Amino acid sequence: MAPKSAIRANSTLQQQPTDLRLGHIVRLLMENATVVVSGTKIAEEISSSRSEVWRLIQQLRGMGLDVAGHPATGYQLRSVPDLLLPEIVRPLVRGTMFASDLNHFYKIGSTNTAAMAAAADGASEGSVFLAEEQTAGRGRGANSWQSPRSTGIYCSVILRPDLAPSDVLALSLAAGLAVQSSIQQIDARVQIDLKWPNDVLLNGKKVCGILTEMNAEATRVRYIVVGIGINVNQASFPKELLATSLRLATGSEWSRVELVGALLKSLDREYRHLTGNATAKEAILQRFAENSSWVLGKRVRIEENGSAFEGTTEGLDPRGFLQVRTPYGVQTILSGTVREK
Ligand code: BTN
Repeated sequence: MAPKSAIRANSTLQQQPTDLRLGHIVRLLMENATVVVSGTKIAEEISSSRSEVWRLIQQLRGMGLDVAGHPATGYQLRSVPDLLLPEIVRPLVRGTMFASDLNHFYKIGSTNTAAMAAAADGASEGSVFLAEEQTAGRGRGANSWQSPRSTGIYCSVILRPDLAPSDVLALSLAAGLAVQSSIQQIDARVQIDLKWPNDVLLNGKKVCGILTEMNAEATRVRYIVVGIGINVNQASFPKELLATSLRLATGSEWSRVELVGALLKSLDREYRHLTGNATAKEAILQRFAENSSWVLGKRVRIEENGSAFEGTTEGLDPRGFLQVRTPYGVQTILSGTVREK
């Protein structure tokens, strides 16, 4: 067995945020996109040596950045990078609660795990955790979330709302509405369906999952982490996953940068609405029901802890729980998996 300190060192290494100089270099290259930027200029800007610049450029190439050149000639971007670096995402979310603390990871276990740990350490509301790749992405229940490098969006945000724990379900449903609206802002033809509580479907397959976790007292939320995984540019999925990506469904590549910008803006809007209006919860539940083919009149099978029953959905109750009519009366679904019958 490895000594404890070695285990900690390894896991810490994986949780290292991306070197801030990488974002600085990308910004510099983007600001001077039409010219070759000398290694000396970049080295001066980031207070490093030219050989260090070369090493960092190689690292950026490893992340998929298309940069021409070498130390003798200087460097030039060949195309706009689709990396979720703070320098690239921040301008898109200016004016929202998510602009000030953007954390980027090249590779991480789980952005939700990192965000929960940061929240416990006092990280502020609006902190965002974005990763190019997750090695231990988590789904609801005991599920994992496949998170291959730079093809999906793996995003977790920290919220500290003045809400009762019973209102957190509405927030989680609002996150689904935010995902739907962000996708449709980019391509209005994409028909998104919301499956209670937290699946976002496209052509009947899962295109996004949301994992909401919280730390709360009996009557007060301390903090919430909303983790959102969107399948963006994946080219295939194992059949049994019943999953799709935006690329598979539309036939073209999507900009993850543009989508994450739209997502954080929509989430900001939904969150301010929910926390700033007494009647918002009711409106969110109504909008969720309007945008979901699952909430009313769907034959479903509900599975939880090894047991299952069937019925027909009959709307959401005032707290946001799904109601299902069965031969034994209407059941209120607090958790569990909902499948089409
Ligand atoms: C589900 O549908 O089961 C929820 C999936 C949530 C996946 C996202 S990806 C970003 C964040 N980090 C995680 O480990 N999980 C969530």
